Amino acid sequence: MKPRHFLRETDFTTAEVARIFTLARHLKQQRGRHEQPLAGQTWAMIFAKSSTRTRVSFEVGIHELGGRPLFLGVNDIQLGRGETIRDTAKVLSRFIHGIVIRTYKQTDLDELAEQGGVSVVNALTDLFHPCQIYSDAFTAAERWAGPSGDLLDSLRGRKIAFLGDCSFNMANSWIMGAQLFGMQVSLGGPAGYGPGEKIREIAARSGAAFHFTSDPFEAVAGADIVYTDVWASMGQESEHAERAQRLLPYQVTEKLFAAAKPDALFMHCLPAHAGEEASQAVIDHPRSVIFDEAVNRLHVQKAILALLAQG
Ligand code: CP
Ligand code: NVA
Repeated sequence: MKPRHFLRETDFTTAEVARIFTLARHLKQQRGRHEQPLAGQTWAMIFAKSSTRTRVSFEVGIHELGGRPLFLGVNDIQLGRGETIRDTAKVLSRFIHGIVIRTYKQTDLDELAEQGGVSVVNALTDLFHPCQIYSDAFTAAERWAGPSGDLLDSLRGRKIAFLGDCSFNMANSWIMGAQLFGMQVSLGGPAGYGPGEKIREIAARSGAAFHFTSDPFEAVAGADIVYTDVWASMGQESEHAERAQRLLPYQVTEKLFAAAKPDALFMHCLPAHAGEEASQAVIDHPRSVIFDEAVNRLHVQKAILALLAQG
């Protein structure tokens, strides 16, 4: 039987997302006292970029599901010295049961999935960060549906406004995720920092619609969620000064946040840079749910791993 992968948002159907959310809520309620679908398994975690939340939530999550996480910094294995993805995939598949990977190129994940014989999970690439937005959507749904309401249903028809660098992984993931969750996405950023050709093509192929504007107030009007991300992502550090200058008008200030719906949530994947993409007051706002997003990474990823383990 071919293993299933989670490489991009659309690898699960809407019906499966509903199952993932329901299972995540169950696992969160039952923490430490639930079934262990990864019992006896070892999962490799290949990381070519820094991480706090993703690394810790996957290590703890795999452990809580009965499995063993094996962290492999990319420079500690031969991949970092030029061994091919193909050979790495073929070797690892003979030892372990699944691979969680954070790297640059999405195509490396596709190759790893194609060449290996085990499930591969995207822990962030330059193109997508699907685990993050599944957890973010779950975080909003938890608030809106309450302890027993229909989680996915509570997202339908809601609007998310994404501010800042709309050309990279988080914005791309929201473009693809919004469609899956039945939401609308409005992106606010300067010319040159909007969705690129590649994501436009992918979105067009799967019928994912989005609105891009250079007016931040237009982007947040009527929004249920105001979301932002760092101005310089991992790998773009040398562009920080130029980006800071161009992206400053898109900083989520109290004034901009107040232009969304009166009960809108503020979200950020973290790590945050207060005074850059969002003001400290917004980061600490009573309707900021940034740390709930972080902890829900654990519960939602456990549900994803449990589903993949079922085959
Ligand atoms: N949000 C997120 O993926 O955080 P880390 O880079 O700390 O894993
Ligand atoms: N866009 C950011 C997200 C970090 C979770 C980055 O890629 O660095």
